[in-house]
Amino acid sequence: METTEVKTEGKKLFIESYGCAMNFADSEVVASIMAQNGVETIQNEEDADIIFINTCSIRDNAEQKIRHRLKALRHNKKHNRDLTIGVLGCMAERLKKQLLEEEKLVDIVAGPDTYRELPILLSEVEDGRKAMNVILSLEETYAEIQPTRLNSNGVTAFVSIMRGCDNMCTFCVVPFTRGRERSRSPESIVGEVQELHAQGYKEVTLLGQNVDSYLWYGGGPKKNFDKLSAEEQEQSVNFAQLLEKVAQVSPELRVRFSTSHPKDITDDVLFTMMKYENICNYIHLPAQSGNSRILEKMNRTYTREWYDSKVARIRELIPDCGISCDIISGFCSETEEEHEDTLDLMRNSEFDFSYMYFYSERPGTLAARKFEDDVPYDVKKRRLAEVIEIQNAVAKRKNKAREGKRYKVLIEGESKKSDQDWMGRNDQNIVCIFPKEHYQKGEYVTVEIERSTTTSLIGRVVND
Ligand code: SAH
Ligand code: SF4
Ligand code: F3S
Repeated sequence: METTEVKTEGKKLFIESYGCAMNFADSEVVASIMAQNGVETIQNEEDADIIFINTCSIRDNAEQKIRHRLKALRHNKKHNRDLTIGVLGCMAERLKKQLLEEEKLVDIVAGPDTYRELPILLSEVEDGRKAMNVILSLEETYAEIQPTRLNSNGVTAFVSIMRGCDNMCTFCVVPFTRGRERSRSPESIVGEVQELHAQGYKEVTLLGQNVDSYLWYGGGPKKNFDKLSAEEQEQSVNFAQLLEKVAQVSPELRVRFSTSHPKDITDDVLFTMMKYENICNYIHLPAQSGNSRILEKMNRTYTREWYDSKVARIRELIPDCGISCDIISGFCSETEEEHEDTLDLMRNSEFDFSYMYFYSERPGTLAARKFEDDVPYDVKKRRLAEVIEIQNAVAKRKNKAREGKRYKVLIEGESKKSDQDWMGRNDQNIVCIFPKEHYQKGEYVTVEIERSTTTSLIGRVVND
């Protein structure tokens, strides 16, 4: 086999990330792999020899934004012919060599499971070739790589616990860009969390497309518990058990997780949340639609009633639990009545906040192949606006009711609006803003809420 000598020593890398938290976490893995090969990741684009854009394909507008960015980078390349530009992540995986052909300035295309190969790919570019690797893996979890934290506030960090997704929701590109679901070993996860704690971090968020289906049995692609051998079952660790292990690292370390899938979240996870004070009472539980026919067409594998019963169960066991949601408006064939069901869901479930989108057809997905994208653009937009309006009204009312209450808040950094104020979040993941006084980043404080908006709570510290 031809071997390429690695020639990356001394280079400077700038990484720009788009998309979900998992992509941002992956960029930190990339920075770590590059550091092992003598490449420093810097914050200043102008001084970089290498620019990596870690991309997202989830909706068409996400890809358009990245294409604009790539076009703008042409300008940099004119000024610096030695500049190497790499496209990483989901768009790299989806478009493969099409990206090298369309965006002629791109030198490297690297899919999400190929980051260990980046030094080799860079060396191929040094040798005057374009380089691509988009092979998806059944095993890769970058388990032992301690990520290099980028743009970190030094207080909160993401920790990937699994990769890929096996769910095949018909609208979604992720199973195609991220490959099969596989879980990372609990030892490596707990090790990373312990290291973060030792470095002074105060909060970790465990990440996966569907954290509730986390199952470690010794490595390899996802299997269901009942398909495991007796020995594998014996040593297996599910999400509730993993959550407990992470919570035990330190009572001072807050633990969050995302995303929970309504079909998989278990009572055991809720019981574990109740047992540990430091596991935040907050669940991101995307519904996508409030109508059972649409949910079936989306292949979400639950009904509206099932979703409602999950929300009810969470509220029964953890009454003050923050719950947030994702909604897609105007999915294929959605009628006005079915859209009304989503509005009804928003009114009744009273989410603290939601991420809301209109449906964007993604090439290659089941929906793109089987269903017509037949809800007109202006109808999609109007329906989305109606969903957002209700969500905003709910959030405003819920935040108003929080005025006068006191919350334990972890100080994460400066408020975006004023350098006199701190920003932190309460247990329910709601943003709190308050005067800095003598308090420090990374401290837990008790904040009494005086005012509120749709998105945040404003108050002052009342530590005794
Ligand atoms: N694994 C998570 C979702 C990850 S993608 C889950 O199952 O809930 C994040 C969100 O993007 C999804 O929840 C969905 O609301 C939205 N999304 C995904 N594909 C989309 C598409 N084709 N058009 C519009 N929104 C989409
Ligand atoms: Fe996409 Fe569904 Fe997997 Fe979420 S669970 S990443 S929406 S396929
Ligand atoms: Fe986007 Fe890929 Fe995440 S498509 S949302 S970056 S998994």
